[in-house]
Amino acid sequence: MKLSRRTLLGAGLAAPVAGSLVSCGDAPGQTGRILRSAARLPKAYTTPLPLPPVKRPASGLISIEQRSASVEILPGLRTEMMTYDGVFPGPTLETRRGETVTVRHTNSLTLPTATHLHGGHTPAESDGWPTDLLVPPGFEARHAGHGAGHTGGHGGGHGGDHETMDDPKAQVRTGKRDYRYPLDQPATTLWYHDHRMDFTAPQVWRGLAGFHIVRDDEEDALSLPRGEREIPLMIADRAFDEDGALRYPALDPELLGQPGVEDRYMAGVLGDVILVNGAPWPEAEIEAAQYRLRLLNASNARRYTLRLRTDSGTPVRFTQIGSDGGLLAAPVEHDEITMASGERFDVVVDFRSLPPGTTVEMRNGLGTGRTAQVMRFRITRRATDDVRLPERLADVPEPEKPDGAVVRRWHFRKASVHGRRGWGINGKPFDPAVPQAQVPLGSTEIWEFFTDAHHPVHVHLSPFQVLRRGNHGPGPMDLGWKDTVDVRPYEAVRVRVRFEKYAGRFLIHCHNLEHEDMAMMAGFETV
Ligand code: C2O
Ligand code: CU
Repeated sequence: MKLSRRTLLGAGLAAPVAGSLVSCGDAPGQTGRILRSAARLPKAYTTPLPLPPVKRPASGLISIEQRSASVEILPGLRTEMMTYDGVFPGPTLETRRGETVTVRHTNSLTLPTATHLHGGHTPAESDGWPTDLLVPPGFEARHAGHGAGHTGGHGGGHGGDHETMDDPKAQVRTGKRDYRYPLDQPATTLWYHDHRMDFTAPQVWRGLAGFHIVRDDEEDALSLPRGEREIPLMIADRAFDEDGALRYPALDPELLGQPGVEDRYMAGVLGDVILVNGAPWPEAEIEAAQYRLRLLNASNARRYTLRLRTDSGTPVRFTQIGSDGGLLAAPVEHDEITMASGERFDVVVDFRSLPPGTTVEMRNGLGTGRTAQVMRFRITRRATDDVRLPERLADVPEPEKPDGAVVRRWHFRKASVHGRRGWGINGKPFDPAVPQAQVPLGSTEIWEFFTDAHHPVHVHLSPFQVLRRGNHGPGPMDLGWKDTVDVRPYEAVRVRVRFEKYAGRFLIHCHNLEHEDMAMMAGFETV
């Protein structure tokens, strides 16, 4: 009997994940498989770089309507998306450190959501716990008995091969929900995105993601590029049908029953179109000046190694000034930036010496063909620029291992998820009702992450500092305060973390969103 590759993979947990599911041929350095578009794709660098609209609080309040919208992503085609305020990316929220803001979300979509502020130091009840759903009015009546009910359980009611996983503590709201963010944390680039139980990946893919920038007086006092010379860049890959609709291999395209994706995409969904701020391979017109770029990898599974080079082939370097959780102690130069899903890099790029007419291409060393292209800058004119990057940026303590700290180990590996193949942490699929750890507030712990494939590990509530990567110290991408760390196949990364202030339920999970939905997530409880 001849076993096909598919039969072998279908045979269950015995299939070696990193070997057989990581498509190395078309996607080196990736854990995931390419989903190809059927749509006609535009030529690179013909679409102008869009900037999301900015929203600031009025009397401490920002209101956002989650709604379906038909958006032009590929020129001449319409794409039906799930959006914040009708745009993709959602509006960029701009707030200040220590000024509590309430973000009032109204759900006018057809599906439940949960909104998480990624990197926010946020009380548990506003953190977007996956079963703390915001349900659109009428949803329960429309889907009564469907099993897609309010806790969004593991596909209960469909097929019978899943048991319903209920969460007795779920806080469900209908119509509107207020998320309260104290933002008592240093200035940095955060982002908000959907976190619905079992269906985060397709709902983020469909458009539920936006920037949230926190500013503070310390950062304002520094000489840094600002105003038009500060540009947020949300990088995300997608795939499109001929008519412009998003493609995605969900087991249930209605996103109501069986969660997860077709088996062959279990390692992650990689699109073949690279979007920056929602535009395919855009071009940004800029002056010959220094620019601050807030880089965010908002892709479901794709990793990038970003490099810049001019049209005459001269490399242009990045000066990193900040990481996920705030400014670095001092600027650090890089030839390239490698980013996994969820990570942010705050960089300054110096275009001053380039004559008008020069173009600078941002390429992806982990892509092939068109996924090796990201975006392009075009220098339009000379300009004055009196920014002098400071030598010291912020007080960041040296990451040291505290003596006698509790060490917790978190193993990110494939696991059986209610009888199907999936992903787990410490051998267990996510159970919202059972936390895997209890962590005392105010104590410093050492957390160690172990992997089989690439797993970008994200921890809610508090940032961490990387102490070790494998047998070495922190890598070049591990500097400063991180909340997401790119752990490569069969690697161990050790971090130091201290949780403060907010007691309750928080998450640790893989930020490959397909892995997350297929249960690579665990709750921990701060006490
Ligand atoms: Cu960016 Cu728990 O997520
Ligand atoms: Cu993962």
